[in-house]
Amino acid sequence: MSETPTPEKPLDFVRVALVSEVPVGTMKLFKIDRHQVALANIKGEFYAFNNICLHRAGPLVEGRLLGNKVTCSWHAWVYEVPTGKVIFPRDEKRCLDTYQVKIEDDAIWIARPKGKQRPSPTVQPEAVL
Ligand code: FES
Repeated sequence: MSETPTPEKPLDFVRVALVSEVPVGTMKLFKIDRHQVALANIKGEFYAFNNICLHRAGPLVEGRLLGNKVTCSWHAWVYEVPTGKVIFPRDEKRCLDTYQVKIEDDAIWIARPKGKQRPSPTVQPEAVL
């Protein structure tokens, strides 16, 4: 579920990378505050989502990105990246957090996540902000 900006609470964006640093069909991990945020480039469109799998906290950025879906490398749960929906096993009630992305002057900016994130014992982000 993504944050919805309001006039009273505009989104706070964080610059994470240049567009050229996240090629089409790849994912990259960023740490924004306490949150692990995965960024995927799907056909030139960028999507940011919570890196922590809803099953047993596997690191989604180490999974397989195919089309607009990512498969967790631990037990093969599948998510629709743009929406965060759980595709396999089908689960209408749970959804990964997703975060708005904007591009400005060839730089990728991600909306700062709010709230808490479950810890994952094994993940080391590539970039720490
Ligand atoms: S931890 Fe991701 S499928 Fe089990």
